[in-house]
Amino acid sequence: MSTLIGARPRAADPDWAGVLAQVPLFSDLPKRHLRGIAKLAKFRRLPAYTRIVREGDRADSFYLMLEGTAVVRPPGKRPVKIGVGEFFGELALLDNSPRSATVEAQTEVQVASIGRSDFLRMLEHEPKVALILLRTMAARLRLSEVSTKH
Ligand code: CMP
Repeated sequence: MSTLIGARPRAADPDWAGVLAQVPLFSDLPKRHLRGIAKLAKFRRLPAYTRIVREGDRADSFYLMLEGTAVVRPPGKRPVKIGVGEFFGELALLDNSPRSATVEAQTEVQVASIGRSDFLRMLEHEPKVALILLRTMAARLRLSEVSTKH
């Protein structure tokens, strides 16, 4: 899957809630909740090779990948590909620390970003989103331990 169906809604009538409904993080959320989340998000198209977040920087947003691919470069570990429907940028918001890795677009990408306080409030109000986020982080931690360079 390289594009979410509807990831290019018509400018006059964008159905961003419909696009977000296809992101696994938001599966099972009622349409009303998705509309609320869509209002919090900024939707942007970025050219290939854009550094979306930079290791060590202060963090202010969480990102969902709606189109294209990006690569995460965790220091001392193998690069990890982030594809359509996946997210990044949660760690620094959760532990209030600098970005743990650089994330760079590999192709032109479309991302949805959600600011720090809206992201944290969303997790407080949407336990299903918080659970999927935790599951994904657990899976990434396991993979990252396997991929640690010796
Ligand atoms: P954050 O630290 O805010 O910014 C960089 C992001 O890259 C981080 O959040 C995670 O979303 C992501 N990231 C960092 N390390 C890994 C990893 N080992 N596997 C997958 N994603 C990662």
